[in-house]
Amino acid sequence: MTDSKTATSVNIDNSGIDPITNFSATPTFAALIENRMARRRFLKGSVGVAVASIIGNSLTACSSDSSSAPVPVLPPVSEAPLLGFTAITTNRLDTVTVPAGYSVKPFLAWGTPISGSYPPYLDDAANSGAEQEMQIGMNHDGIHFYPIDVRSDGENSSEGLLVMNHEYVEPNVLHAGGPVLPRPVEQVHKEIAAHGVSVVHIQRQSSGEWQLVNNSPFNRRITAATPMELSGPVRGHAKVLTKYSPDGSRTRGTINNCAHGVTPWGTYLTAEENWAGYFMNSDAGQPREHSRYGVRSGNGRYFWETATPTADQYQRFNASTLADDATADYRNEPNTFGWIVEIDPFNPDSVPQKRTALGRFAHEGIVFATAVEGEPLVAYSGDDARNEYIYKYISNAPYQRNTAGGHLLNDGVLYVARFNDDGSGDWLPLDVNNADFMAKATAAGVMFSDQADVLLNTRLAADIAGATKMDRPEWGAVHPETDEVYFALTNNNARTEQQTDAVNPRANNTTGHIIRWHERDSQAAMVFDWDIFLLAGDVGTATPGTDLVLNADNHLASPDGLWFDSRGVLWVQTDMSGSQQSDGPFGNNQMLAADPVSRELKRFLVGPLECEVTGVVMTPDLTTMFVNIQHPGDRSSPDNFTSHWPDGGSSRPRSATVVITKDDGGVIGS
Ligand code: FEO
Ligand code: CA
Ligand code: CA
Ligand code: CA
Repeated sequence: MTDSKTATSVNIDNSGIDPITNFSATPTFAALIENRMARRRFLKGSVGVAVASIIGNSLTACSSDSSSAPVPVLPPVSEAPLLGFTAITTNRLDTVTVPAGYSVKPFLAWGTPISGSYPPYLDDAANSGAEQEMQIGMNHDGIHFYPIDVRSDGENSSEGLLVMNHEYVEPNVLHAGGPVLPRPVEQVHKEIAAHGVSVVHIQRQSSGEWQLVNNSPFNRRITAATPMELSGPVRGHAKVLTKYSPDGSRTRGTINNCAHGVTPWGTYLTAEENWAGYFMNSDAGQPREHSRYGVRSGNGRYFWETATPTADQYQRFNASTLADDATADYRNEPNTFGWIVEIDPFNPDSVPQKRTALGRFAHEGIVFATAVEGEPLVAYSGDDARNEYIYKYISNAPYQRNTAGGHLLNDGVLYVARFNDDGSGDWLPLDVNNADFMAKATAAGVMFSDQADVLLNTRLAADIAGATKMDRPEWGAVHPETDEVYFALTNNNARTEQQTDAVNPRANNTTGHIIRWHERDSQAAMVFDWDIFLLAGDVGTATPGTDLVLNADNHLASPDGLWFDSRGVLWVQTDMSGSQQSDGPFGNNQMLAADPVSRELKRFLVGPLECEVTGVVMTPDLTTMFVNIQHPGDRSSPDNFTSHWPDGGSSRPRSATVVITKDDGGVIGS
């Protein structure tokens, strides 16, 4: 806070986009020429056609040097179309719109009491921080439904645990009158309590309506203050010692939890995405663990470090060097963030574990390849910032259903993706035991003391390895039958014409695209084959090498959330900016359904004003769908709400889950 900023209001940058911090060297001139030539070939369609064919119905060999690529096994094409509903049009209504024959109902909105003394939600924002700790958090994001019997059959479609992230907060809506400076400790307490994760025990009533199970021992809030452990290679490292945890084994809280992951053993993974901006470090030279991630030199995003009266749990957001020793200040606090965090929703007393072997970056989420008995466990995670990377983790120990657990996430090798312009790709190890990687580090003049140091500096390691800079990797999804991996690249307004390549083919990519790949030989392969599934954009946008041309039923921008249901429908959610929604041809943010084989694409849902549609899951029988609506009315000021969803009237907007059912009780999307 500067001296001049002692006014009663505070202007908080809530854009949610990480700054560009990847200034690593651009490719060599020779590589640039090669890229340009390959791009011309791609735009003409030749490469696109070749690569598209690995997944299309008319299977042929892929590009010329990849004749050893296996042909994926596709499920038989049934007579009935995969997508049976009638597409809806775009709109700018302050409601959730779904196709004819479907019903939608808000559920578990921000502030809904779920635990403790169940304090009722107050629409004047008078709930305290302590009450917020017993209520659903703000800005719902990644979500999963765990059937109550998930550890046995996993078939229960009428009772289970709904677990969801609360990515960040809207201070203009969270507080009566909005946020003020200096930050009163009560406001900061409430903001920290509105972050994190909710675990909610729910049941379907005989009426068909879903309800919270009151007083269930499973109901739990995890916040940005909940004690957590660091596990894996970074635990106890010199760079994570803090005043709170002088032995580097613990930290407090998880923040900016975007998408999620679901382990094969039925636990929940929450991803820490735009965490760096919550911290400040005003030291003359920030360490690479801070600067490469965008830790601020001025105040943190919400000015939490200025909370008054002061308290250790808030001062920790100032990572400047303030004492003689790392165990007497919070210079290392940001190093305890940027991880994937494992939560066991079925054990309310469990301590969340930050799984450091999975790398440290702006984790959007994490998605697993189908676990195969006796084979290594494989997972993918994207780093959502402009020009960052996509990663793959392979466990060292094989997956065994009977013994599977968090240990598989503590010991493995992290790889980063290089997408070659010929449609092939390589996984590049980030591993101190790999001679090639260490030779590249030496050549770049970079030293890593050990594997923990590599993981703390995952982005730097990936720069050195020679990874491909992507157009903001968001969610991934793995096809349930073919194991093909899909990734949303939401947009990248920083890519120049010179920086385009085959996998990121558009300069100033304002509308984004979706890519996919198939591993050669096995999930743990080091080589893959990729193609572009769709280029997003206005009506008329064509995806080269395919028949897909977007029309009024499916034009979209800024794809973000991706999820495959068990029938193999790919659900695609959008996160367009406020201006893209208000001024573009796309209307409000939306969700579409795609047939990955035919590339048929239809709009299924349109959200309320100024929301993001993010997070989707269904019950095992596919008759109930849960979708998260994040930050409706996110351009609200404290005295002017720009959405009143879901409560209507003059109410303040509330993020919420919606429950979608088909009126005939059938399968959603059929
Ligand atoms: Fe939180 Fe990358 O979206
Ligand atoms: Ca997202
Ligand atoms: Ca996004
Ligand atoms: Ca979001």
